[in-house]
Formats: sequence, C-alpha cells, structure tokens
Amino acid sequence: MAVEELVIEQMGSRHLDEVLAIERKSYSTPWSVLSFKNEIYNPYSIALVAMLGGAVAGYIIASYRLGEGHILNVTVHPGHTRKKIGTYLLDLVMDMLRQRQCTVIYLEVRASNLGARRLYERLGFREVGRRKFYYADPFEDAVLMTLDL
Ligand SMILES: CC(C)(COP(=O)(O)OP(=O)(O)OC[C@H]1O[C@@H](n2cnc3c(N)ncnc32)[C@H](O)[C@@H]1OP(=O)(O)O)[C@@H](O)C(=O)NCCC(=O)NCCS
Repeated sequence: MAVEELVIEQMGSRHLDEVLAIERKSYSTPWSVLSFKNEIYNPYSIALVAMLGGAVAGYIIASYRLGEGHILNVTVHPGHTRKKIGTYLLDLVMDMLRQRQCTVIYLEVRASNLGARRLYERLGFREVGRRKFYYADPFEDAVLMTLDL
C-alpha cells in the first residue's frame, strides 16, 4: 500500500460504526460514540478519517484554541499498522494546525505505549512531563509531549 492510495475525508456520522469498531479493538477504555460526536460537531476540532479501498483505515482528532493544538486521538486499524498511515495523518493535522495559527501542539500518551512514543518522536515531539495516573484500566501515567510549530 502507498499512502497515495489513502482518501482523506472529514469524519462524519457515516464513519462512526467502523471508527468505533477500530476504537474498541485498539484501547482498553475506548471513546464512546458521544465523545466522537462532540468532536465532529466542535468548530474548534479537526476530525479526519483515512479511507483505504472504501473502508476506514485510520482516524485522527485534534482540537485547537488560542494558538495551541491538542492531539486527542490517533488510531490506525490493527490490520494496517506500520504502513505510515499514522505518520500521514499526523503530518496532515500538523499542517492544518499551523494554518490555524497554532504555535505549539501537545498530546498525552500512555507511558508503556513505546510504539506511539517512537512515532511522535520521529515527528519531532519531545517529552516535557508526566501526568500521574492519567489513564485507567490499567492505571498508568501519561507522558506529555509537545512540538513547537
Ligand atoms: C500508534 C499507531 C497510531 C501508529 O500508527 P502506524 O500507522 O502504525 O504508524 P507508522 O506506520 O506511521 O509508524 C511510523 C514509525 O513510528 C514507529 N512506530 C509505530 N508503531 C510502532 C510500534 N508498534 N513499535 C515500534 N515503533 C513503532 C516506527 O518508528 C515507525 O516506523 P517504521 O515502521 O519504519 O519502523 C497505531 O499503532 C495504533 O493505532 N495503535 C493503537 C492505538 C494507539 O496506541 N494510538 C496512540 C495513542 S496516544
């Protein structure tokens, strides 16, 4: 697969069944349908899906306010990982946040999620702190990472 085959669409209600199925496979505490709807209809959020052959292969949600971007969710279908879909979605959203006058982006990631941390580091994010017991199931610290745009 080449990333050129991906079709990027704004996330809408029509994608949510597939998005929720991927979400449930990917996290012990998946987002609810309401969490996704809140972001889809939030004027200060960006919610995109990457389609591959007509099916959702990944998605990303970010919000922005007062020059700060926040990556809230980036997830790739378990059958499509390590094909640079996550990198593509993050690159795209970094550009969109820059266009919206953001000067910094931050995100939280489970301390044990070494794959995601590696992905963010490759894109230039740096660890700047920890949030104690940020996650449940199992309880775990979040690593706080930021990128200056
Ligand atoms: C984390 C996730 C979004 C990565 O998406 P992806 O499309 O597979 O990532 P990419 O193919 O763009 O990876 C780019 C680079 O990041 C690093 N990386 C990504 N996943 C990795 C893993 N599981 N282990 C080690 N390194 C990893 C590698 O350096 C990789 O380059 P390489 O494949 O040439 O070695 C995806 O695995 C996922 O959805 N995981 C479950 C949900 C999740 O943890 N989301 C992040 C929450 S903060």
